[in-house]
Amino acid sequence: MDALWEGHTLPMVLLRWTQGRVCAYLNLCPHMGVRLNRSGSALFDRGRRHLLCTTHGALFRPSDGLCVSGPCGGDHLDALEAVEVFGQVQVFLPPALADQLRRQRGLITALESPTTAPGAPGPSAPDGSTPE
Ligand code: FES
Repeated sequence: MDALWEGHTLPMVLLRWTQGRVCAYLNLCPHMGVRLNRSGSALFDRGRRHLLCTTHGALFRPSDGLCVSGPCGGDHLDALEAVEVFGQVQVFLPPALADQLRRQRGLITALESPTTAPGAPGPSAPDGSTPE
């Protein structure tokens, strides 16, 4: 699922988990900043206990986004604020995370190009130049 934020596409994961609680995260692995399910693969591991990053196999606990196994062990997925009111879920970008994303313009561009492989030519600036 993607969300639109300030003209940018943000991939996100929205889950109903423990005791019906709704959780939302950016669908962005803390290891290399790529979507967890880059090729449209499943978001969960075979046992459906953890979110899975298919790039290098990191596993994340759905309840809090903690990486419990993999190259980014101990890191967390970026949590979004999810609120359910009368059956409708609203998702908010926490201000600190919004500021971080604004500072990381390259990251935002990468989010808009989910097929961009690491090491591929980088994003270009709005004026068409290539950032250093
Ligand atoms: S990019 Fe997710 S585990 Fe490496």
